Amino acid sequence: MSNDLEKEAAARASLRFVRDGNIVGLGSGSTAAYAVRLLGERVRAGLNIRGIPTSNHTRELAGSLGIPLITFSEARQIDVTIDGADEVDGDLSLIKGGGGALLHEKVVASASRQVVIIGDSGKLVQTLGKFPVPVEVISFAEPLVKREIEALGATVELRQADGRPFVTDEGHHILDCHFGRISDPPALAERLSETPGIVEHGMFIGLATVALIARGREIIELSRRAQRLPHKDGV
Ligand code: A5P
Repeated sequence: MSNDLEKEAAARASLRFVRDGNIVGLGSGSTAAYAVRLLGERVRAGLNIRGIPTSNHTRELAGSLGIPLITFSEARQIDVTIDGADEVDGDLSLIKGGGGALLHEKVVASASRQVVIIGDSGKLVQTLGKFPVPVEVISFAEPLVKREIEALGATVELRQADGRPFVTDEGHHILDCHFGRISDPPALAERLSETPGIVEHGMFIGLATVALIARGREIIELSRRAQRLPHKDGV
């Protein structure tokens, strides 16, 4: 099965988490776009939802599909967010932000009762870190933050797009930080969060409630509770 078919299968599987009347966080990236398109079909068939998009790109896509969109002025909490990820591990820790939307994605995930992560089989990893961790920075602090992250052992690159520094929806740059292997994701996330000049980073810890990973025709479902049980039971 190709990656695209797996992405679509994972997106389709996520629709059962969306109920009539829900406020839905709409993720960014190619996998989340499948979910947005499928939700658009359901809305046209009568499903009543309101969406909060995580990027300008998703706002345009969802708007073009007729999904009613709102902002945090109209909602305190999101019922369910469906989003992709660059890497997912067995604890449901994630690396996100390959598409550059990590800041809004993290705000939306943090405000959501349920966060359903969808991905093709390539996204599920034993250990996070092969994919670089995106770090969104203010330009004033960029050289300082780069040196601090290099001191943690990473190789750091300023993300480029069309020969220029990539600019996020909030007008910042992104440092792609290659750690290779992240042995303690929560500790790294905490370290990055306390570094002045970092607006947000792509380590998502304790935010995902479910991951749906398509492998061929199978959907692997990981949930927080399911993850804790095997350790408890010693299985
Ligand atoms: C966007 O900023 C990201 O967090 C995406 O969710 C992530 O990069 C996965 O993207 P794909 O679904 O395109 O692989």
